[in-house]
Amino acid sequence: MQHPVPSSSPAAGLRLRVNGQVCEVPAEPGTALLHVLRNDLELNGPKYGCGLGECGACTVLIDGVAARSCVIPVRAAVGREVTTLEGLGTLPCPGATQQAFIDCQAAQCGYCLNGMVMTVEALLRRNPQPSEQEVRNELHHNLCRCGTHVEILQAALRAAQLRAGGTGPDGPPMALEALP
Ligand code: FES
Repeated sequence: MQHPVPSSSPAAGLRLRVNGQVCEVPAEPGTALLHVLRNDLELNGPKYGCGLGECGACTVLIDGVAARSCVIPVRAAVGREVTTLEGLGTLPCPGATQQAFIDCQAAQCGYCLNGMVMTVEALLRRNPQPSEQEVRNELHHNLCRCGTHVEILQAALRAAQLRAGGTGPDGPPMALEALP
């Protein structure tokens, strides 16, 4: 992650709080939050997919709630807490949701992964023990073209386990109900 522009910078514009750090970005208020995160702050976890709020690749958390950053103007994030994939953990120390996706190898091309992880993270923050159906409902509007859905579902349920201090990373994957 690029260090935030200090608030004394002459290029300072909008003040944001991203991944626990306050930063000022020289962006027009109507610029999509996704572009500010990627281009100004070099946070490349959120991806540009459809640009229409439909695929979920750009998902971030705003005050802990999943939001599609491609259709949210950066001005709407001022005064809120923005969390990106980078804010959940690090390579040597991934967050529980990230670890669960690693454990379950829940990616193929990986382009949708940011949206899947962030959407699951948001779900688990408000519902720490979701049913499989609740996970399915939550991810219903996140698109994956590779067909990794079974592993993604496993990862979501495993993330709930890990966050609860249950089965560790080397434990067996959770069984899923039969797919329809
Ligand atoms: Fe934002 Fe598709 S890129 S929803």
